[in-house]
Amino acid sequence: MKILVIGQGGREHAIIKKLKESKDVTEIFVLPGNGGMERDAKRVPIGVMEIKKAVDFAKSEKIDYVVIAPDDPLVAGAADEFMKAGFPVFGPDKKAAEIEGSKVFSKNLMKKYNIPTARYEVFSDMEKALSYLDSAPLPTVIKADGLALGKGVIIANTLPEAKKAVKEIMGDKVFGKSGDNIVIEEFLEGPEVSVLAFTDGNELKPMVSSMDHKRALDNDEGLNTGGMGTVAPNPYYTEKIADECMKKIFLPTIHAMKSEGRTFRGCLYFGLMLTKDGPKVIEYNCRFGDPETQVVLPLLESDLLHIMQSCTDGTLAQQEVKFSDGAAACVILASGGYPVAYEKGKPISGLVDGQLPGEENVTVYHSGTAITEDGQLVTNGGRVLGVTATGPRLTNALSHAYEAAEKISFEKLHKRSDIGLRALKALAEKQ
Ligand code: AMP
Ligand code: GLY
Repeated sequence: MKILVIGQGGREHAIIKKLKESKDVTEIFVLPGNGGMERDAKRVPIGVMEIKKAVDFAKSEKIDYVVIAPDDPLVAGAADEFMKAGFPVFGPDKKAAEIEGSKVFSKNLMKKYNIPTARYEVFSDMEKALSYLDSAPLPTVIKADGLALGKGVIIANTLPEAKKAVKEIMGDKVFGKSGDNIVIEEFLEGPEVSVLAFTDGNELKPMVSSMDHKRALDNDEGLNTGGMGTVAPNPYYTEKIADECMKKIFLPTIHAMKSEGRTFRGCLYFGLMLTKDGPKVIEYNCRFGDPETQVVLPLLESDLLHIMQSCTDGTLAQQEVKFSDGAAACVILASGGYPVAYEKGKPISGLVDGQLPGEENVTVYHSGTAITEDGQLVTNGGRVLGVTATGPRLTNALSHAYEAAEKISFEKLHKRSDIGLRALKALAEKQ
C-alpha cells in the first residue's frame, strides 16, 4: 500500500519508521517532511496547510491511506477534505478535532459529561476576566481558547502577572483570534502523565504511558517548549490509576464526543495530572504527542498500519494493540536559544545516513534537519533531533540514550541533562 504522511517533525519520523515495519506498506510519501527523513520516505514539497494541493497529490499518486499527524491541518478540516475525495484517513475530522482546537469546547464537554478536570470559568470580555481575577485564588492558570503553538497556557503566581497575561491574550491578541475567548482555571498539582490512545469512536485502546519534560532547562526551569525529552512507561501511572482513567476519563470522553455528534477517530492524547483527588484532564490533543511518540511507538509490537486502519473502519475492538514490556527514553537535541530565537544551518556531525552507526536499540528521529546542496546534514529548527533508546528497564534506556546523544554534535547544541531523573526517583520510591 502507498501511504501518505502529513507533517514534518520527529513525531512524523517515528510514525514513518514504524509504518515501514508493516509488511503491507510498499511506499511512504511525506508532506513536506524534513531532510533527515529522506531515507525513510519520499518527500513532496507541499506544506501541511496546503490541503487542496495535498489532496490533488494523493489523487495523482493513487495513495491508499493518509495519516495526518499535526494539529493545525486536523483542526482546519484536512481529514474532511481527504475523506470527501474518497481517501481513508487516520486523524479526526474537523468537528472532532475541536477537542484540541478549542479549550472552551473541551472544558465545557468535560463539565457536561462529568469528566474530572480543573474548575474553570470562560471569558469573552477582557474587563470581566480582569475583575474575576481580583478574587481568584493564586496561582491561577490562564489559557487561550485556540491553538497557540503550545504557548497559550500561562501559570500566574501573582495578581499582576495574571492580569498582564489576560491583557496580552485578549487585548494585544498575542495569539491572534485564539485569544478571543479565554479559560481561567484552578491550579492543579501532582505528577503529569501523557496517555495516547487509539480510538475508532466506540472502542479505545491506550498506548503505553509516557512522561514529557516541557521546560527548556534542567530542574524544570526556563520556558515551556514543545518537549525536551520523554520516557515510557511513566512510573506514576500504575495499573490501578490506568483502570480509573479508563472508567472515568477515556471511555467517557469518546462516548461524550459520539453523543455530541463528533465521533473521534484517530489518536486521542490525554494530558493528565495525578492529583490527590484522583487523575484529572489537563488537556486533550487530537493527535500523537511530540516527543511522546518517539518513546511510545518504538515499544509498539503490533502492526501500526493495521491499527490505524481499524480506527478508520471501526474495527479496533478486534485489532491487537500490543506493547513490549521494556522501556524507552528520548533526549531532544535542540538549537541553543530554543524556544525563542535560535540559528539554523549548523552542520551536524556524528551521524551516518542520519543514524548512529553501530548503536543497537537506538534510533535518531529527525525533527528539524535539512540537507544542503552538497549533501551536508544541517540544523533547521528549534528541536533538531530526538535520540531514543529502548531497553529492558528505564535505567538502561536512559543511560544508553544519553551515551548515544553524546556522539552527536553541532554548534550551540542544547539538551537537558536530567531527562527521566524524576521517573527513576519515582521507581526507586515504589520499591
Ligand atoms: P498545555 O499547553 O495545555 O499542555 O499546558 C502546558 C502545561 O501547563 C501543562 O503541561 C501543565 O504542566 C501546565 N498546566 C496546564 N493546566 C494546568 C493546571 N490547571 N494546573 C497546573 N498546571 C497546569
Ligand atoms: N509534548 C506535548 C505535545 O505533543 O503536545
